[in-house]
Amino acid sequence: AQASESAAASPPAAGKKIVLGFSQVGAESGWRTANTNSIKESAAEAGFELKFSDAQQKQENQIKAIRTFIQQKVDVIAFSPVVESGWDTVLKEAQDAGIPVILTDRAVDSKDTTLYKTFIGSDFVEEGRKAGQWLVDQYKDAQEDVNIVELQGTTGSAPANDRKAGFEEVIKSNGKLKVIASQTGDFTRAKGKEVMQAFLKAHKDIDVLYAHNDDMALGAIQAIEAAGLVPGKDIVIISVDAVKDGMIAASEGKINFIVECNPLLGPQLMQAVRDVLAGTEIPQRVVTEETTFTSEQAKAALPDRKY
Ligand code: AHR
Repeated sequence: AQASESAAASPPAAGKKIVLGFSQVGAESGWRTANTNSIKESAAEAGFELKFSDAQQKQENQIKAIRTFIQQKVDVIAFSPVVESGWDTVLKEAQDAGIPVILTDRAVDSKDTTLYKTFIGSDFVEEGRKAGQWLVDQYKDAQEDVNIVELQGTTGSAPANDRKAGFEEVIKSNGKLKVIASQTGDFTRAKGKEVMQAFLKAHKDIDVLYAHNDDMALGAIQAIEAAGLVPGKDIVIISVDAVKDGMIAASEGKINFIVECNPLLGPQLMQAVRDVLAGTEIPQRVVTEETTFTSEQAKAALPDRKY
């Protein structure tokens, strides 16, 4: 059935709190913690009842949580999908129950875009391009091969797929830039360290690390230092997020360039919930505004960094 045949979303009765069910990816990174805090604080400020569920990076847990929200007849379901694929069935169940769904942070690859009202979050391909462009600029005069290792985010997730694709698209303009190893570090510090240790063992000539988030870069820095190398000098490091710990490492020169990914999506999400329930037209895609930081820029921005 198409959206028009499904039960319509209805605002809660006057005086009744809006109930928002939110299924979060997990608690894998500093970015995620900031994102969770933003959602919880904004829901409290908006006066909504928030039913919050942590999926511990497992899609099956998210599907279960969404089904529970449907049974509980929440007013709106929002979620940040762990991976891109495999959502059509459960999203259809929500649609048939007349519960609007909002995506935040990460996308789904469903062909039927009526399954969700809007998607609020970053342009991850663009983030990958920014990382690649910085590298292209740094090595424009390179005479020898520049050996790059890549720490990918969670396999199958939108940020891992897109940050990889955007980076590759840009660096192919310079044949000297070569990705010699690429593996997932699941967006965590522990995995970032473990995989970097393996990279260092297997390759004696690593010039650059591209990490899909700060936490993996921070784990990798521990491995690089333990190997007697200087992060930011012996190995140039690029990462994504710009959370506090990443910004500290950048200000110390251990990370050379960070592409910002903004986790503070709570206020926009609460507004979208209100609009959807009021029947106000909202754009299908809301792209978050973001910047980039060199070490110098990180040093300057650090005192005001909130997360
Ligand atoms: O989906 C956003 C990504 O998820 C962040 O860049 C990463 O730190 C988090 O785990």
